[in-house]
Amino acid sequence: MLILGLETSCDETGVALYDTDRGLLAHALFSQIDIHVEYGGVVPELASRDHVRKTLPLIEEVMTEAGVSPADIDGIAYTAGPGLVGALMVGATLARSLAWGWGVPVLGVHHMEGHLLAPMLEEEHPEFPFVALLVSGGHTQLVRVDGIGQYKLLGESLDDAAGEAFDKAAKMLGLPYPGGPHIARLAEKGNPERFHFPRPMVNRPGLDFSFSGLKTYTLNTVEDCRVDGEVSQQDKADIARAFEDAVVGTLVIKCRRALQQEGLKTLVMAGGVSANSNLRAELKMALAKEQAQVFYPAPVFCTDNGAMIAYAGAQRLKAGQVDTEDTRVRPRWPM
Ligand code: KG4
Ligand code: ZN
Repeated sequence: MLILGLETSCDETGVALYDTDRGLLAHALFSQIDIHVEYGGVVPELASRDHVRKTLPLIEEVMTEAGVSPADIDGIAYTAGPGLVGALMVGATLARSLAWGWGVPVLGVHHMEGHLLAPMLEEEHPEFPFVALLVSGGHTQLVRVDGIGQYKLLGESLDDAAGEAFDKAAKMLGLPYPGGPHIARLAEKGNPERFHFPRPMVNRPGLDFSFSGLKTYTLNTVEDCRVDGEVSQQDKADIARAFEDAVVGTLVIKCRRALQQEGLKTLVMAGGVSANSNLRAELKMALAKEQAQVFYPAPVFCTDNGAMIAYAGAQRLKAGQVDTEDTRVRPRWPM
């Protein structure tokens, strides 16, 4: 089955072709970051308009690259939520129109299911069951995965998502949006011994997270370092390092706890924050001690992309699932 996947839930237009026998045939991505950077965050209306401009050209691009014509395509998957409603509607409308024109089934996919299954795109991919850590700009969740569609939420953030905390801390340090990669780069020059930021909620039982206290702690530290209105580059690097270490430390503790609780030895990490190399290294080290393994997507498939939607959609379309007349996009959609 050859599936065209469209991702337009936020500020990335992602398009991919996934074949259930041959794997990923082609993928293309357009990031809107340059459009939103001057506003310090994603502007929903601008996001929708740009998806309108970019999606069709990207579809043509991947079809040309893969040497695929409309007659070869067996179904279309698009992100139906959660996300920005206007942005989601662009993908949904385009997917349904093409599906109608080509006479193929169409299916709306959950964005986080896409992230969760992204490691399955890799040659060396995990086997079910596993625990997934989903860490993006909108979500921080630990999920037990027993198979496609068999998900049990083990814990989640009670306030900010990990990526959101990275973005807000970056703003406090005068770094551009999205802040995660900028904090990571700055943290490399930071002294890990200078500050010790709290690891929120690690002393309490359970698998929930909280990052808003860490945000306040970061802000207070920035203010303490201010001299004549300025924070030095070294102070900023030391703060970035302490912040990143605290987030990574918290995530590692909770992942180990989740694996122990579920009696599993496989962890899958996905979502934008899983691109963080410090997090990858620390998790790998911590889990190796327990003979557990960690899997993650290639860095390009950690952040939003069309390949993960094509893959998730292919699994569900193969099982016979399709949209009905009253399927709607869902800006909020618990998994
Ligand atoms: O999954 P994603 O692309 O979009 C959402 O669905 O939210 O995740 C974006 C988030 C942003 O908050 C961004 O700052 C964060 O992932 N991020 C990172 C890194 N790369 C992206 N956070 C920490 N370190 C990184 N290297
Ligand atoms: Zn995402």
